[in-house]
Amino acid sequence: MEVDGKTKVCALLGDPVEHTLSPLLHNSFGESEKVNVVYTAFNVKKEGLEAALKGAFALGIRGFNVTVPHKESVIPFLSGMDPLAERIGAVNTLALTDKGYKGYNTDATGFMRSALGFEDEIRDREVIMIGAGGAANAVLCGLYELGAKRVYILNRSAAKAEAKFGSDKRNVILPLEGFRDIPDNKYFCAQCTSVGLSPNDEAAPIEDKDFYKMIGSAIDIIYKPEETRFMRMVREKGGRAENGLPMLLFQAVESFRIYHGVTVGEEGIKEAKDRLYRKVYGNGKNST
Ligand code: ATR
Repeated sequence: MEVDGKTKVCALLGDPVEHTLSPLLHNSFGESEKVNVVYTAFNVKKEGLEAALKGAFALGIRGFNVTVPHKESVIPFLSGMDPLAERIGAVNTLALTDKGYKGYNTDATGFMRSALGFEDEIRDREVIMIGAGGAANAVLCGLYELGAKRVYILNRSAAKAEAKFGSDKRNVILPLEGFRDIPDNKYFCAQCTSVGLSPNDEAAPIEDKDFYKMIGSAIDIIYKPEETRFMRMVREKGGRAENGLPMLLFQAVESFRIYHGVTVGEEGIKEAKDRLYRKVYGNGKNST
């Protein structure tokens, strides 16, 4: 793509940002959809965030993705919030408006799209979510948007999960070992903790094999390693499991649509996905 006087700029804001995959995705979408944009990454410290946004607005920077540690702390500096982002309480996407930046959260949409192959196991069903950190907010929203009837939330600190999610009576909050109190059945499970993330590959949030007998299908939001220990344990008991790379891909597709008003087509998604898998796993494998 040729950079010229009409090229728009989008970027990631975070600290750190060095290992981000967002430029790969957004620049690939720009090429495939013929949108004249470059996407880069800015390392911005907490104390510089407000000034960064003011400067970005003056420069007309089209949009941002926001990552750790700014997903919540950026909210006071925004000119508006999308209702879904408001419900989640965190943003990962900012779009330029004539008043400032409006905040969106595309993680829930990304999760929902990555979970389409599991819809029958989620809609009108009880499901399980492990974790209550930042990622869990968006996944929980996504599970209810997909029609889950009840979510059993298992977390190491049940008190923390209760404080965050206890006010919604559809949620049942339990400590990790509390899975034994869940009625015997086969469930869809979303794994939202950081346990098992490379290089700590040999860890799973729950080690007890009895738990995995209850899991018919699962998404682990971790994507490195390609098969986490959690996914392996689900598969060993006959369940279906996918990792979090499709969620990453689809949250970017949704951010791109918000920035540019352009929906990435199937070809563009395939191209970006191939590049992503090659970059992350060192091959062109396309497992979704
Ligand atoms: P965030 O910044 O998103 O909150 P985090 O602090 O890494 O991320 O925690 C994400 C999730 O992983 C939380 O559910 C956390 O459990 P707690 O709420 O009890 O802290 C979970 N988690 C992190 N390390 C864990 C571990 N060793 N065992 C079990 N759960 C763990």
